[in-house]
Amino acid sequence: MKAPLLVIGATGTLGRHLVAAGRRRGFEVYATARQAAPGRRHFCLPDDDANAFLDRLPTLPAAAFVCAAESGIDRCRQDPTSEAINIVATQQRLFAALTARGILPVFYSSDLVFSGRPGAAADGYRESDPCQPSTAYGRQKQQAEEGLRQLGEKHLILRLAKLYSGDGDNGCDVSPLAQWRQALAEGQAIRCATDQWLTPTWAGDVAAVSFALLERNHSGTVHVAAPESFTRFSLAVRLARQWGFDAGLVSPCLIGDFAFAEPRPQDNRLNTDYLRRLLDFHFHPVACVRPDLTLATEKEH
Ligand SMILES: NC(=O)c1ccc[n+]([C@@H]2O[C@H](COP(=O)([O-])OP(=O)(O)OC[C@H]3O[C@@H](n4cnc5c(N)ncnc54)[C@H](OP(=O)(O)O)[C@@H]3O)[C@@H](O)[C@H]2O)c1
Repeated sequence: MKAPLLVIGATGTLGRHLVAAGRRRGFEVYATARQAAPGRRHFCLPDDDANAFLDRLPTLPAAAFVCAAESGIDRCRQDPTSEAINIVATQQRLFAALTARGILPVFYSSDLVFSGRPGAAADGYRESDPCQPSTAYGRQKQQAEEGLRQLGEKHLILRLAKLYSGDGDNGCDVSPLAQWRQALAEGQAIRCATDQWLTPTWAGDVAAVSFALLERNHSGTVHVAAPESFTRFSLAVRLARQWGFDAGLVSPCLIGDFAFAEPRPQDNRLNTDYLRRLLDFHFHPVACVRPDLTLATEKEH
């Protein structure tokens, strides 16, 4: 019998896909969120004791996918609780509790561990490039990564680009794609930066890659992102046309025109050569995203 798996933060963009992918593969999956519900256990960072939580599980899982985080970029800048969640509870307590029990931590980090300065990485950032985060969120992710490596135990750190859920127009998708889709459908104009790059990646593909790396017994740090990158403006125009909306509603601006509490970096594109050497995996292109935000099958696009 296969050992179960644990998804910490199972109700979010990625967690929902991990739970579904695990169950499709025949694993028992323990799922957590801050609120318990049928089929979902309560686990809340930074308050809950990771050791006690793990010891209450019916069987120790083989691996834990750690999706729970405070990932609001401005909130990480403004709210000190984010450090307690993303660094103290995750890095210092949760990873130690998992590795002490022989549970493989699969930690989801971010392209924002890099500076994102235009021209800093001509070919995209590689796994071995130095981290120089320009945001509090990126620094918290970098610290959590370092804490996990320092434990000296087997682990996976997957650095991700911008995810979309592809679950349909059901309010679960908080990505720019879903925000644009809603505005364009209502005939509202949107302003999109011509100087900030996005690599839209379907969360279902990240789940599939996570399982493929796990099945290959891989460990270490891997960049996981789809191969297509766009400026925000060019992506929004392309999707408006693809979805049959008026592309004239999309107007160009600069990322610096927005008054974010935390200034956004411009170009955090990841180099994914290493992943391509490890796996023969085909990501869904944005051409697959239908106007209702579900994903067309490969044959349809
Ligand atoms: N989405 C992206 O574009 C993206 C890009 C790069 C990296 N990442 C990273 O990938 C991971 C997964 O991202 P995601 O988009 O799936 O995140 P998400 O949609 O925000 O989901 C986060 C999950 O964690 C739970 N959670 C939130 N705060 C928690 C806390 N304090 N204690 C325990 N559970 C908590 C949430 O459940 P409840 O709210 O129901 O409690 C939810 O299930 C995150 O670490 C994120 O930083 C995401």
